[in-house]
Amino acid sequence: GHAKITIRLDDRGEVEDARLHVTELRGFEKFCEGRSFREMPVLTARICGICPVAHLLASARAGDALLAVEIPPAARLLREALALAQLVQSHALSFFHLSGPDLLLGFDAPEARRNLAGLADALPEVARDGIRLRRFGQEAIEAIAGRRIHPSWAIPGGVARPLAAEARDRILAAVPDALAIARRTLALWKRREPELADELRAFGDLPGLFLSLVREDGTAVFGEGRLRFVDELGAIVADGIDPSDWRAWIGETADPASYLKAPFFRPRGPARGAYRVGPLARLNAAARYGTPLADAEQAELREGARGAIRSTFLAHRVRLVEVIHALERIPALLEDPLALSPDVQASAGRNRRRGVGCVEAPRGTIFHDYEVDRDGLLTGVDLVVATGQNALAMNAAVAQIARRFVTAGRLDPGALNRIEGGIRAFDPCLSCATHAAGRMPLRIELRGPGGELLDLLERAP
Ligand code: NI
Repeated sequence: GHAKITIRLDDRGEVEDARLHVTELRGFEKFCEGRSFREMPVLTARICGICPVAHLLASARAGDALLAVEIPPAARLLREALALAQLVQSHALSFFHLSGPDLLLGFDAPEARRNLAGLADALPEVARDGIRLRRFGQEAIEAIAGRRIHPSWAIPGGVARPLAAEARDRILAAVPDALAIARRTLALWKRREPELADELRAFGDLPGLFLSLVREDGTAVFGEGRLRFVDELGAIVADGIDPSDWRAWIGETADPASYLKAPFFRPRGPARGAYRVGPLARLNAAARYGTPLADAEQAELREGARGAIRSTFLAHRVRLVEVIHALERIPALLEDPLALSPDVQASAGRNRRRGVGCVEAPRGTIFHDYEVDRDGLLTGVDLVVATGQNALAMNAAVAQIARRFVTAGRLDPGALNRIEGGIRAFDPCLSCATHAAGRMPLRIELRGPGGELLDLLERAP
């Protein structure tokens, strides 16, 4: 399978629209039917090899709902700590490894240099910081959940094992270094931002809505929360939604040209209901992060913004703010005496026929919606991932970039880099969206008004 972007020109050679297509069948939901919901956290590792932790946590939460139990406080703390460790790992990968060469060396730097090796040559300390920050996330995940990602650590009712004091101390000892890296990288970004004015304007500066989980008081949350939609003016349009009611608020178009589900905000309909999830959506939806350094950064971003922050390109900066928040919050969670409690599991039988698990994954809100029979065997599985929810906005962003950078009916390398860069600002996980194994190659096609192929470029993932 591969992902394909089609940019269509009209009669006058202007960009008419752009579409992301993913040519991989979604068989996973059907494949799960007939299995026990208790197996799902283990099976989730197969949904996506890139973000297994997010699916593990969403699946365990759907399981909690099927058991109709409240999980012990220690399990709640540890699941949130794992989500935050994953956030650091995933954002470090996105910022330094995938986007860093473009952001820090420039979109017009020679292709042979726009990679991690080129970054290591030009800015060796930055490349080293990227590797160390990602390693912090990986090692914290391992300290909490065992081997890189132990697929049976989170289970319906809680977690499989308590946290050892030694593992907690190892994570806490590594926090100050990781936090220093995140802060100096954010300072570097801010120095660089004026030179990226073009990208800030043209890379997905879009109208539309934002969705995120928040706490009851509006604080950002990486554990359990309620759904909130805000609009481009920053006004709350729906709030306090129990995630199990998601179908009342989110409709899904099954785009025949793509196997990617394209969800939309139901009250506005498919044409006007596009919304974004992920770091930018969280920043816009949450009243605050609830930790001092991240709150100051959110306030700085909001200063002078009229309404919500709309440029998807700023998601790069917000990822660094979220890493700072995670590194402030992890010690608060793990220093809680309850974090080492041996009581980490509630046990019960199946007490409901439907269970929904909803979490803020690094790339945005995801839903696992399970229906089971009397024996707890799955009869219906519906998975809604972040990349699918961003599909309509990604199409609009690609069209916007193409309008600005595609000239004379061809894809020159500068335009191609910028289209890729615009997609990377969303940090999509095409593996999640299609359940393909690993990353997929991207193909960009430029087509004329009659559908004729004008230009074609293909990139390894
Ligand atoms: Ni994924």
